[in-house]
Amino acid sequence: MKPLIPGPTYHEMLHPETLPEPFRARAAAALTNELDPANLFNITWRKPDGGIRYVVLPKELTGVEANILVLTARWFPSGSHKVGPAYSTLMEGELAGEISPGANVIIGPSTGNFGIGTAYVAHLKGYSAVVIMPEQMSAERYQRIRQYGGELDLTPGSESDVILVLERTEAYKKDPRNKILAQFELLPNYRFHRYVTGRSALEAAQAHGNGHVAAFVAAPGSAGTLAAGDEIKARFPDAVVCALEPKECSTLFNCGRGTHRIEGIGDKMVTLIHNVLTTDYVELIHDDDCVMGLDLLECRQPLVERTLGISDGSLGGLRGLFGISGICNILGAVRMARFLGLGPDDNVVTIATDGFDRYPSVLANLAERAGTPDDAGLNSRFEKIFRGGGDAAEILDVRPREQKDRLFGYKEEVWTAFHYSRPYLESMKSQSFWDAEYDRVGAIDAALARARHE
Ligand SMILES: Cc1ncc(COP(=O)(O)O)c(C=O)c1O
Repeated sequence: MKPLIPGPTYHEMLHPETLPEPFRARAAAALTNELDPANLFNITWRKPDGGIRYVVLPKELTGVEANILVLTARWFPSGSHKVGPAYSTLMEGELAGEISPGANVIIGPSTGNFGIGTAYVAHLKGYSAVVIMPEQMSAERYQRIRQYGGELDLTPGSESDVILVLERTEAYKKDPRNKILAQFELLPNYRFHRYVTGRSALEAAQAHGNGHVAAFVAAPGSAGTLAAGDEIKARFPDAVVCALEPKECSTLFNCGRGTHRIEGIGDKMVTLIHNVLTTDYVELIHDDDCVMGLDLLECRQPLVERTLGISDGSLGGLRGLFGISGICNILGAVRMARFLGLGPDDNVVTIATDGFDRYPSVLANLAERAGTPDDAGLNSRFEKIFRGGGDAAEILDVRPREQKDRLFGYKEEVWTAFHYSRPYLESMKSQSFWDAEYDRVGAIDAALARARHE
């Protein structure tokens, strides 16, 4: 079956320089027109010069000796790396002969960025798309989905009400023309992040400290991004993987289930594609530390630079790169480096899933509800957020067997209710399940390359 619009293999997303020349030239030309379908070939962590897009945070900002590397996803087509799993899931469905334009409508259950990616990829490939998401996410998200021609089906609540999104998705399954890009359940999300994000993270770390990755830190929504940790561990078995959660919705930590303000993460469940075997720590971050931290880095830079004695304007280079969950990941990475006592040779890698463009409305809301403190107040905010937190009570070691059993138990609770069989769930308790899913990358890539020639 020939896809209507061809796109890249997993390997080409990691190494776009290996794209066949006609695709490479079209991808470069498409950078000036977001809606050119050749942008599918720009789904990559790489800049046009071939380097990985990341920043190393100034040590004056982090206050720790370890190198904190943040992979920055805002340059992906559609503005977030979530376009990668959306594309990969659709691509695998097309290759399997299960999805084709004209015959199917694409459904994207999401809290925003996956929905934006779904609407975008569907548009480029000639499908209609419906994005199911909670009604209280940032205004910028809905606007972007509509801009890509996606239809919205909104469910009650906010980020932590994703279970309602999953329930609504079940209703769509009744019509066989609807094809669900089920990010919480389907393994292309795992494959994309383990292969593309994991290897990109390893490459970025090569140029710093001892060239290894000591820790990978990411706040799970679908837990796709956390799969990068599997690749990092395959290379550096001593690396630790830390999953972050909002303190207000500490589901992995202690089955807590509250509402919170960090859009994209903390979805009150263990997702099906979360390989809990390779998660070593769960760390809690207060949600408003992330919103206020974003305000400090984005809107109060001169003050923060003065306070930290930064005179080279290096904070200016960070402007626009982070959203709220990006700040959550940065705070988690810094606090983990402190907790583990990491030094200047050590690299901690984390991710900024999207950029500031999704959040001006959220900072406007912060000003409304919390006011704007004077300089002394802002400095004490900085001190609390960037120097505080991360004590032992907020970090849980989930390596012991009983912790794994607890997390598997949560997973079973959610996913048996969505018709997954116990034997399938049982098979996920072995690393060989995940490695076998990962090993499919080569065959999928070969099938896609063949399909592009037919
Ligand atoms: C802003 C933001 N941060 C973090 C995440 C979590 O990423 P993942 O779903 O790969 O766990 C998401 C997911 O949608 C997101 O939109």
